Amino acid sequence: MTASVRAGALPRASAQAPANIAFIKYWGTRDSEATLPYNPSISMTLSHCVSRCTIERLGGGPGEVLFRPPGSVLAPAAPGFAEGVRRHLSALASWAGVEGPFRVATENTFPTGAGIASSASGFAALAAAFCGLVDRQVTPRELSVLARASGSGSAARSAFGGYVEWPEGEGKEEGYAVCLAAEGHWEIHDLVAVVDDSPKGVSSRQGHEAALSSPYFQPRLELLAERLAVVRRAIERRSLADLGPVIEEEAIDLHLIAMSSRPAIFYWRPATLAVLAAVRDLRAEGTAVWATIDAGPNVHLICESAEVERVAAAVGSMPEVSRLIRDRVGAGPCPLEEHLI
Ligand code: PMV
Repeated sequence: MTASVRAGALPRASAQAPANIAFIKYWGTRDSEATLPYNPSISMTLSHCVSRCTIERLGGGPGEVLFRPPGSVLAPAAPGFAEGVRRHLSALASWAGVEGPFRVATENTFPTGAGIASSASGFAALAAAFCGLVDRQVTPRELSVLARASGSGSAARSAFGGYVEWPEGEGKEEGYAVCLAAEGHWEIHDLVAVVDDSPKGVSSRQGHEAALSSPYFQPRLELLAERLAVVRRAIERRSLADLGPVIEEEAIDLHLIAMSSRPAIFYWRPATLAVLAAVRDLRAEGTAVWATIDAGPNVHLICESAEVERVAAAVGSMPEVSRLIRDRVGAGPCPLEEHLI
């Protein structure tokens, strides 16, 4: 990725990076300074849910963070969002040995902060655009480390397409993700049943910190070696029958831990339970679909191509579901020729 320079203007570069949905969840931070997890996680990279980011180097001034909500225009980002971008930018700038100020503009193709991994895609896109700006060619592995420097661990997985594992990692530089299989290996769909697209009240960061206080944190860790092995094998053999039950158990356990941590965190809404019940009904009728949920109320419905229309018709028509995002396994980050600013 290289920076483009307009006549008389400052260098800028743009990139796109995908969100991902975790099959085995990252929940609980072992080292919050280095953003290292207690357990390995495995995810599928998404195709439709992406973040786009443009970064421009400014000649002076305080710098600027802009955000474009869907269907709207670029405007100064909310303070919490802008703070996260500035923190990540300062880590990226010290890695590259360059100084700001910078202007950053970003947009997501999906609801932000609602448990659809907008921090993963957003920070991976920022890291990728930044590498373009400073003309540094990086491998996906290096991008994975840079994306994680944001403090969003799941961003490490958004550096790759397909099916991705982020091991627990030993040190700051080792905490990179690896690709288990490229997107062409297995066509899995993720229909996101949006029941509430407002930003969640409790951040993942707070959830990771509180997780250790749950009496169920340690027991889940003990189940993980087996679950990880099942998920890796299911991906290798393209077996949704093996994958499905484990991803549902993982989602329930994440929320069990969240609800039983101190303070207790409830991401679910009544509509979340209604969608989970619909998924069980679909399975009872013979439709192979399983659910997973990240740190938010929205439900990801995981199925293969043959089941997509049946699942979309059943869940998309529920009064509790405001919108169904049709997504599928996708590719990793890429540079963009078109800039947001
Ligand atoms: O990467 P973070 O700090 O936003 O945490 C992600 C947490 C989950 O989305 C709930 C699970 C995961 O592995 O993506």
